[in-house]
Parts: sequence; structure tokens; C-alpha cells
Amino acid sequence: MIIEPRTRGFICTTAHPDGCEQGVLNQIEYIKSKGKIESPKRVLVIGASTGFGLASRITSAFGSEASTIGVFFEKAPSEGRTASSGWYNTAAFEKLAHKEGLYAKSINGDAFSKEVKEQTIDLIKKDLGQIDMVVYSLASPVRTHPETGVRYKSSLKPIGSTYTNKTVDFHTGEVKEVSIAPAEGDDIENTVTVMGGEDWEMWIDALKKENLLSKDFKTVAYSYIGPKLTEPVYRNGTIGRAKDHLEATAFKITDKLKDIEGKAYISVNKALVTQSSSAIPVIPLYMSLLYQVMKDNNVHEGCIEQIHRLYTERLFLDEVPTDEEGRIRIDDLEMRDDIQEKVAELWEKVDTENVMSLSDLEGYRNEFFHLFGFNFEEVDYSKETEEVVKIAGLQ
Ligand code: NAD
Ligand code: NA
Repeated sequence: MIIEPRTRGFICTTAHPDGCEQGVLNQIEYIKSKGKIESPKRVLVIGASTGFGLASRITSAFGSEASTIGVFFEKAPSEGRTASSGWYNTAAFEKLAHKEGLYAKSINGDAFSKEVKEQTIDLIKKDLGQIDMVVYSLASPVRTHPETGVRYKSSLKPIGSTYTNKTVDFHTGEVKEVSIAPAEGDDIENTVTVMGGEDWEMWIDALKKENLLSKDFKTVAYSYIGPKLTEPVYRNGTIGRAKDHLEATAFKITDKLKDIEGKAYISVNKALVTQSSSAIPVIPLYMSLLYQVMKDNNVHEGCIEQIHRLYTERLFLDEVPTDEEGRIRIDDLEMRDDIQEKVAELWEKVDTENVMSLSDLEGYRNEFFHLFGFNFEEVDYSKETEEVVKIAGLQ
């Protein structure tokens, strides 16, 4: 089968298995080139198939020879349809991990459900006994509550008043104004229910109840802050309320882990092209300008560089460096005054005519296609792909 990208707005409905493998391989090579990392050896990653979660799994496995269990929600290939990219990423990850004798198993299903938590518990009991770290990296637009069965939808809306700013259609390069109506009804609560910390806490409770957390256990969840520019739609919007809740949950979990000297952390990460972030209006234009400025200053990072820095310069130090709210900051380079001042200056000027020269829209697009396994120089896209049909332990 010859597979081509088929896009609809900010989603791509096809994915390329060889390209996804190349993306995983590139991340593995980066981690290997950086040398050994001292970090936990039995790691559960929730949201392990793409973005920051995949980068965390790769860093643990190939930096520290950790045994990893990955949980995610991805589509397997079916008649006439490719799998989702996270499925191919995991197929590649498992293949490459097993080749090096690393333990790697995956559970494909709804992490919010009781069933997937039970399946994970059974697998840990059977294979690993206990775990030393949980990385919580879910990003989902919906959550079915495990106790009530009610399905909640999150939203990306400002709170209080309509927010109007520039945005870019990253396929066409058209820069135009977008207005986003404020949250109404249960929008805030629903978003907190989906993207807040309740499910993270439920995972830790469930694992702890079964005595599956080792002494000095650590867990980390990812958050975002971003600049003034995107505050109304991000940090001060509905999603920001969910992040406030997630961040508060870290303290709650830490309290519950006292007896095993465990700790829950929040890491505030940099804005990066992932399937989740391309869905947020205004953000892609901000990111295109940010990429240009960070590349000009030689401080650009992708998910793997970010997580490598989290592991080697923050999370596992005797004294974990945090901000005054107790959060780890690996968004430090994005938030640097000189970087933000330059982005703000370009923001005023950017329009459809100059967007290609002022911003790194080209780089943004390229990374968007990389998410689905396209645009890799190393891959021959005219070649028929062999469908990956089966992965050990993964349906
Ligand atoms: P992503 O879309 O690349 O990854 C989301 C992961 O969650 C995937 O593995 C997906 O399979 C999994 N998932 C979604 N719904 C699921 C479900 N019901 N059950 C099981 N798995 C499910 O997202 P990302 O951008 O890497 O985001 C991960 C975290 O990092 C989020 O909390 C996000 O807010 C945060 N973050 C993202 C950015 C950014 O710019 N992308 C910046 C800072 C922080
Ligand atoms: Na440019």
C-alpha cells in the first residue's frame, strides 16, 4: 500500500508506519547519543504513544534500560485504513526495545476506565511486582467518568469575554482574526473533569491500594503556562482551570505518598507541535513565531530534548529545582525575556504576506506531518509499505 497524508483541518486521518518508526528511531538515537541516565527502572507511562509521553517512555527505556508499560488509546489498522500514528509509534518502540532485550508491554484502551486500570494492575503484578514511577501524559477531548458513566467534553474557551486575536491556517498560511466565544454552562467544570487531576489521583490510588508503588516512588504530570499573548485562550481559559486542578492534585498525591516517601511532580513543558496542541486556535501562529525565534537563538527543543532535560537536570536530582508554586520548569527557554520580547514584536507585524519569512511556519508544518510519519527524508514514500499487523501484547 502507498500511504499519503490526508488532512482535515488540524487532523491527519492517515499515518505512515515506516515514517512513524523513523520518528521513534530518531528519538532513540538522540537519547543514546546523550549517554546513560540514572532514573527509575520500572516505569508506567499513561499516554505513552505520542508527544511527551512517548518521549518519556523512550527516555526511560533507552536512557536508563527501564522496563516500561505504556497505556494509550490508539486505532489498530483495519481494512482500507491505516492505524493511528500512536499505534505505529508503539509498534516501532516495542520492536526496537525488544531487540535490545528491554521489557516493554502496552495496553491499548481507555485510561479513564476501571477496566484499563485493572488490566494494568494485573500486568504489573504478573511481570514487574512494583513500579518506581508513573508518567501521566494524557491529552484527551473527552472522558467517560468511571463511576457515573457520564461522558464529559473539554473545551478550549476563554472565560468571561470573547477573545479575538490572530491565528494561522497552517496548511494555507493564511493569517486572519479569530474570535472565540467565552465558556458557558458547564464548560469549565467539564474541562476540569476531563483534563484536571482526578484521573491521575485515581490511578495512583488504585496502584497504591494494591501495594504496587515502590519506596521513593515518583509520579510526574505535564502542564503548560505560556505567554501573556495566549493567556485568554490557554492559562486563563477553560483548559487553564484544568491545569490549575492538575497542579493542585500533585500536592494531594504527595500527601498520600508520605508513608512510602513518594512524591508527585508537575513539569511545565514548552509549547510543541503535537496532535493536541495543533487543535488550539491562536497557538499554531504563536508556535510558528516561537520556533523561528528559538531556532535563531539556538535554543529550540522538541519533545525528546525536553524530556531528556527533565530527566537529567530536574526530576532526579537530590534537590529538585522548582518555581515558587513547586513546579518543575522546562519551559524556561521558551519563557526567557529576550525570546518572549522578540515573539511579541513579531506578533504585531505578522500577516499572510510575511508569515513565511517572519515565522517558522515551514518548520511547524514539517513537524505536524512528522507526527503522522510523513516528510522524513530517510523514508522512501513511493515504496509499498508492509502493513504492521500484530504487536506482542497489543491489539
Ligand atoms: P498527545 O496528543 O501527543 O498525547 C496524548 C496521549 O494520550 C496519547 O498517547 C494518546 O493515545 C493518549 N490518550 C488520549 N486519550 C486517552 C484515553 N482515553 N485513554 C488512554 N490514552 C489516551 O499530547 P501531548 O501534547 O504530548 O500532551 C501530553 C500532556 O502534555 C498533556 O497534559 C498536555 O497538556 C501537556 N503539555 C503539552 C504541551 C504541548 O505544547 N503539546 C506543552 C506543555 C504540556
Ligand atoms: Na521562516
